Amino acid sequence: MSSDLLLIKNGRVVDPGRNIDQVSSILVRDGRISVVGEVTADVIPEGCPTIDAAGLVVSPGFIDIHCHLREPGFEYKETIATGTKAGARGGFTSLCCMPNTEPPIDNAAVVDLIRRRTREDAIVRVHPIGCVTKGRKGKALAEMEELASAGVVAFSDDGDPVYDSNIMRLALTYSADLGIPITNHCEDHSLAKNGVMAEGWVATRLGLPGIPAAAEEAMMARDISLAELTGGRLHLAHLTTAGAVVLLRQARERGVNVTAEVCPHHLTITDKWVLGNMGVESGGASTQAYDTSTKVYPPLRSGRDVEVLIEGLAEGVIDCIATDHAPHELVSKQVTFNEAAFGISVLETALGSSLQLVHSGKMSLSALVERLTVGPARVLGPAFNEFAALEPGTPADIVIFDPDAEWEVDPSEFESKGKNTPLRGTTLKGKVLTTIVDGEIVYSASPRSKS
Ligand code: NCD
Repeated sequence: MSSDLLLIKNGRVVDPGRNIDQVSSILVRDGRISVVGEVTADVIPEGCPTIDAAGLVVSPGFIDIHCHLREPGFEYKETIATGTKAGARGGFTSLCCMPNTEPPIDNAAVVDLIRRRTREDAIVRVHPIGCVTKGRKGKALAEMEELASAGVVAFSDDGDPVYDSNIMRLALTYSADLGIPITNHCEDHSLAKNGVMAEGWVATRLGLPGIPAAAEEAMMARDISLAELTGGRLHLAHLTTAGAVVLLRQARERGVNVTAEVCPHHLTITDKWVLGNMGVESGGASTQAYDTSTKVYPPLRSGRDVEVLIEGLAEGVIDCIATDHAPHELVSKQVTFNEAAFGISVLETALGSSLQLVHSGKMSLSALVERLTVGPARVLGPAFNEFAALEPGTPADIVIFDPDAEWEVDPSEFESKGKNTPLRGTTLKGKVLTTIVDGEIVYSASPRSKS
């Protein structure tokens, strides 16, 4: 619903970009933040819509730099309409959608189509990511300049790596001129082969082909050297291994222009979840083993990897959390583990999962909010700063959440068409209550919260 004015009072305002973490009020006027702090009675007209956020956190809306909205081509998995509703329910006000669509986003006409669908159907901001190579085929560079002029915010062949090293070199060279990052899905196919989960004792126990950590790290090391060679803007998608964090830290120390993301599932669940019992070790596979909702690329890894990823995120070596929301229709998952599609539907559980790091004392709340707002904006560049701050004059993209509210994950309640989550039936602590884009409430868990 639209309104010229909106008052959010008594909330714990967490605005990491400005080092603000205090109880305060926010007045929104004409879609923009007007006042942050004390809002005196004389500026509040009678009947001004008001949200009482006492006991709740009020922060900039989350920015997801990696999700799959599936449109055009795979509307049976997700659409811009359903994906943005899922984003709003998850507290995301900006979604960057990957180009593994059909046709792929490798020319301006497809970008225009997505923009049109966004204008017609989206309830949060959608920013397309363009392909690095024509048709995502890895053989020749896409028209990067045309895509940049059409407004893509990053380039990626996600779902596949940019395999050819010389093409990656050229892409990184152009990225430096265009000021737009290349997001690589680091996977050496010759090592990953037909793997379906992380290589290790769980895969051996289950008799499933494994993907070694080296499949990620080998390509990541190549990309870091190419970023160093070209001075290009490298962004590393969905890190999963302890070794990846070491490589990233070293590259950062050498001043390489590289950023990286990690997904909520890689921070919170391990390969033991493929055994069933939600990761609780029972000495072997349970009757719930081979749950295809645990099949994701890159794969869920060991507890040690998870620990190191959390350290990397807390330290800020890993810049941000990205969902890699990968919705699939039921039949893609109701098959054997080997045949199932890779991917988890993440947008609506991302906050509750990630808050586990805060509840367990591994990260402060404000650092976590930073990794969901300022961090992703930093990857995308200065044009995104205004979406990551609650500063007077900036667009009013806001999320209000209760960090302590517990709720059970029931995928049938998801706005996403993708019900594929291993978290079905688990309890998450942390719930989005209201999401606001350009001053408009686009999601409200409880209509009564607005008076
Ligand atoms: C992604 C998808 O479904 O598009 N799946 C996933 O498990 N992350 C593609 C991919 O990155 O493999």
